[in-house]
Formats: sequence, C-alpha cells, structure tokens
Amino acid sequence: MSTLRLGILASGRGSNLQSIMDAAAAGKIGAEVVVVISDNKDAFALERARRAGIPARYVGFGYYASKDDYERAILDILRQNKVDLVCLAGYMRLVGRVILDAYSNRIMNIHPALLPSFPGLHAQKQAWEYGVKYSGCTVHFVDEGMDTGPIIIQAVVPVYDDDTPDTLATRILEQEHKIYPEAIRLYAEGRLKIQGRKVFITK
Ligand code: GAR
Repeated sequence: MSTLRLGILASGRGSNLQSIMDAAAAGKIGAEVVVVISDNKDAFALERARRAGIPARYVGFGYYASKDDYERAILDILRQNKVDLVCLAGYMRLVGRVILDAYSNRIMNIHPALLPSFPGLHAQKQAWEYGVKYSGCTVHFVDEGMDTGPIIIQAVVPVYDDDTPDTLATRILEQEHKIYPEAIRLYAEGRLKIQGRKVFITK
C-alpha cells in the first residue's frame, strides 16, 4: 500500500500536528506529512514543520479578495504536493466550498469536545462551565457546518470537581494526540466507510 500524503492546516501551536508528524515518522500510521499550511504567519505549527524538514506555507486570508480566492491558493498548494487527505489541526476557520468540493470526504478535523456537544470555539471551557461530568474529543470528517461532519472516533475524559478549563483542556489534549493519528491510520488502511451520518470502521 502506498503511503498516504497528508496536508495539515493549522492556525496555532501545532501540538496535534506534532503528534501526527511523530506517528508518521515512526512508521505507525501509513502516512506522511507532505505540507503544512497556516493562515497565521506566526503559528508555531509552521516552525514545527520547518524543524521536521516539511514544507511550511503561510497563506494570509487578508491578501485575497474573497474566501474562494483564499481557498484556491490553499488548494493549489495541496495539489502541488499531491495531498490525499487534508487534516485540520487547530485550523480556526470554516472550510468553504472550494476545498470541500475538491476534497470531498477527504478532510478530517479534531475537536476538543464530545460532539455534537460544545461545537465552536473554547469547547473545553464551554463543557467545564456547563458542568458536564465527562467530556473528551472527536475526530470527524468535515462538511460545510461547524464541527458537524460524520464522527470517526471519540475519546472520553472525566471532569473533576477541582478542574479548571485549563486542566480539563490538558487532559483532553492528551487524548487528542492519540486519536488523531489513530483515525489517520484507519483511513490510510482504507477501513473507514461513510454511510450518511455514520462512519463504520471495517476489520
Ligand atoms: C486543539 O485542542 C484542537 O482540538 C482545537 O484547537 C486546539 C489546537 O491545538 N480545535 C478546535 O477547537 C477546532 N474547533 P494544537 O494547535 O496544539 O493542535
């Protein structure tokens, strides 16, 4: 089986990117990160890519006349690098039509809550404020909604009485770093079957 080519979109510190690069470099997921793209020129994710010898590209939203033009610029980079699967890793924008059409069912995202609870920003704080006893994280395929696409895998973590949003976020992040590489591995092995809202993991 040929190695799956990953393009990562990240806006921030890139710890999920790091977990994916590490798992890929260790030969654990049948995939390699071939390009990292950020909408934030100061994203530490870009620095992590450079340190790993992976092309790091900044695409500034503000330089383009429209969201479509911005996404076409990203799409060009994805295509130049022959990306098979796009992974959003702390990418803080809604993916629009241009990328969705080109990579239909080939875009994944990680979200730090048990979807469909607490979509959107600051999910860990939302869960903590709500008073749930368990939260966690979700890897899902991306559709046009905000954190709404078919769910691939989830991990659950307890919420303790003495948690703060930060301690909860740290507990969740540990699980993010496990389930994102795992979801990519399953995809690379051709084991994810999407049927409507459901994703079945075949043996
Ligand atoms: C992660 O917790 C990720 O789940 C979250 O942003 C963080 C990025 O951290 N994503 C979202 O909230 C998307 N809705 P990282 O840059 O260290 O991977």
